[in-house]
Amino acid sequence: MKGKLYVIGVGPGDPELMTLKAVRILEHCGVWLAPAAKKNGESTALGIVEGVVDRRDKEIITHHFPMKKIRMGQVPDPEVKKAWDAAAAQIVGHLQAGRDVAFPTLGDPAIYSTGFYVCETLFALAPDLPVEIIPGVSSIGASAAAAGQPLCLGDDRLVVIPATFENGRLRETLEQFDSVVLMKVHRVMDRLVPLLAEMDLLDKAVLVERSSQGGQRIRRDLTTDLKPHYFSTIIVRKS
Ligand SMILES: C[S@@+](CC[C@H](N)C(=O)[O-])C[C@H]1O[C@@H](n2cnc3c(N)ncnc32)[C@H](O)[C@@H]1O
Repeated sequence: MKGKLYVIGVGPGDPELMTLKAVRILEHCGVWLAPAAKKNGESTALGIVEGVVDRRDKEIITHHFPMKKIRMGQVPDPEVKKAWDAAAAQIVGHLQAGRDVAFPTLGDPAIYSTGFYVCETLFALAPDLPVEIIPGVSSIGASAAAAGQPLCLGDDRLVVIPATFENGRLRETLEQFDSVVLMKVHRVMDRLVPLLAEMDLLDKAVLVERSSQGGQRIRRDLTTDLKPHYFSTIIVRKS
């Protein structure tokens, strides 16, 4: 008998933003493999889940995934690939022994989440293993809600982009779209803020730090603190 892998979006931080389905499946799965951004560090996704689901009878594996740039169509950094391989190998072991595995992931699994890389690695090892993706509330929606503004209305064109890419690509995107969501902004504020100023977009931008979490902050002046928390998203809406 084979088990099933569930990649579960657990929302942006507030446990109340977990879906009923996410809670039910986490309660059902005996094994949780939770991603951690730092070696021997805590898993944010696990922290969210623990606010709602009792972990006492669960086998919990916290697995470190290094935070490095991934470009589609290019070979990933060997350290990153090694982490995907190791996670997939552990998951395959449990699934082949008939145990269902939950992979809780921050926000929604479809948005810049390690969950899909792990699935791809898993399929290369065992193409017929069953996998189900459970959507979650993304930090994008949560950030817009915290800022009290829409992402797009009417015929607005909305785009999501990691701010870690080069200024040329950011500039082009900011020129072309009506509404731009910039993720992973925390390490690049020193070049992003001057770019927004140069494009006369600073007054159209809002930075939401730790949306729905304790310590949530909404900042419309981006020039004063260039070192926000990793969980920070900027929304630039022109209209
Ligand atoms: C690897 S991506 C994960 C996105 C996630 N899958 C989602 O749907 O929200 C990490 C980035 O998401 C954004 N992020 C995650 N949680 C956030 C939060 N609570 N508030 C604001 N931004 C957040 C930040 O831009 C962060 O750098």
